[in-house]
Amino acid sequence: MKCCVVTLGCQMNQSDSERIRSVIEGMGFEMVDTEEEASLIGVVACSVRQKAIDKVYSKIRKWNQWKNEKPLVTFVSGCILPADEEKFLKQFDLVFRMNELPDLPDMLHQCGVASEFSAKHPFNDLHREDERTDFWQIDPTYSSDFDAFVPIQNGCDKFCSYCAVPYTRGREVSRASEDILAEVRRLVERGVKAITLLGQNVNSYGLDKKGQEISFAQLLRKVGELGQASGKEFWVYFTSPHPRDMTRDVIEAIADYDCLAKQIHLPLQSGDEKLLRRMNRNHSIEDYLKIVDDIRELLPTATLFTDIIVGFSGETDEQFENSAKVMERVGYNMAYVAKYSPRVGARSARWEDDISPQLKSERLARLSEILKRTSKAHNDAMVGKTYRVLIERVDPRMASALSGRTEGKLPVRVVDAPAELVGTFQEVEITSASELSLTGRLA
Ligand code: SAH
Ligand code: SF4
Ligand code: F3S
Repeated sequence: MKCCVVTLGCQMNQSDSERIRSVIEGMGFEMVDTEEEASLIGVVACSVRQKAIDKVYSKIRKWNQWKNEKPLVTFVSGCILPADEEKFLKQFDLVFRMNELPDLPDMLHQCGVASEFSAKHPFNDLHREDERTDFWQIDPTYSSDFDAFVPIQNGCDKFCSYCAVPYTRGREVSRASEDILAEVRRLVERGVKAITLLGQNVNSYGLDKKGQEISFAQLLRKVGELGQASGKEFWVYFTSPHPRDMTRDVIEAIADYDCLAKQIHLPLQSGDEKLLRRMNRNHSIEDYLKIVDDIRELLPTATLFTDIIVGFSGETDEQFENSAKVMERVGYNMAYVAKYSPRVGARSARWEDDISPQLKSERLARLSEILKRTSKAHNDAMVGKTYRVLIERVDPRMASALSGRTEGKLPVRVVDAPAELVGTFQEVEITSASELSLTGRLA
């Protein structure tokens, strides 16, 4: 029996998929990459933009046609807005939420899927404590031997006016810090080289269990201590923090431990005061820039990444220019710029989507141009110096080269290097820089 799971969306969904995979493999299925081969197909959906959800509709249309030719069971999970869920219930055999994952084998049985439980079933050690968080006890089938995601929190209480996530993932809930640290410890013992702590607002970690759970800064310190005691080399990242909860103690913790990577993803969304308020971000531009200054002071080598939305409802030329100004001022190494897409249920869907697709594209191109310039300036300054690089793969465009990332997550192509270095740290001398990447050779 073969199963294919298609994962859309962010690292949160990729991490959830690793646990879905464990459960399905535990039922005796072999996981395959091609949909055509599978008798059980699932999609882990993303609702952040309409384009991602359109993809789910086109997939299920195709899969339902295949059902005329062969037996096939389909499911959908991940981030689904209530309006889509109603439609999915009619088109998919099964719709489930991640917290229902422990019941997936039973639910699939009801859809007629037979299963042989293996002795090593991921549920053998499952103890039911809290239905919102039990699924994290399931051991994930990690997609990489050296780069792992560790979820620390699910859901979101911030309700930014444009965003689907509070309606798809529900209220914020923190995973027990003991369980997080146990997973990190296991990964470190296994020799993993990069770990990313995941959540929608990682730095509000613990606030839902005030008095019972440690804070995000304390969690980082515990990870840092674990790293020091292990004597191993690895880099720990986290994504995404929210500027509103980005206290100085988080930055201080990162400064104090070698294993806490000097790379910060700090979402901006807009560089305009009034628009930020309409987005319900609950912080000012001044607050944001103060965090940037703290990062520059305490973590002078840190790279800075961000997310920005262009063409939000009512965004004037002047307001857009303010985003451009903040981009110039901060000088990001990377920015993910998205065109605004109204999401049913989110507050801004009631406001007019009044920026034309063409103007959105123009604004996106402007910000990309600024990003390329600031990123190139950072990259140029690295030429001639040597950096530690985690080698990730053979370069897809050049068989004799490898590609990897610096601690700051900057992509580096390493020329004339053997494939057996994949998954190791290497000293790389940077020989040239382009707008969004670097080239180097083994030092
Ligand atoms: N929790 C994170 C964001 C998660 S959503 C934060 O607070 O920043 C990931 C990214 O998708 C966001 O940073 C935003 O840039 C983009 N995004 C979210 N909703 C969007 C929408 N309606 N239209 C366009 N982009 C959106
Ligand atoms: Fe969405 Fe805002 Fe929550 Fe981020 S903080 S997931 S943008 S509502
Ligand atoms: Fe998409 Fe859900 Fe991530 S909506 S961006 S997959 S949290």
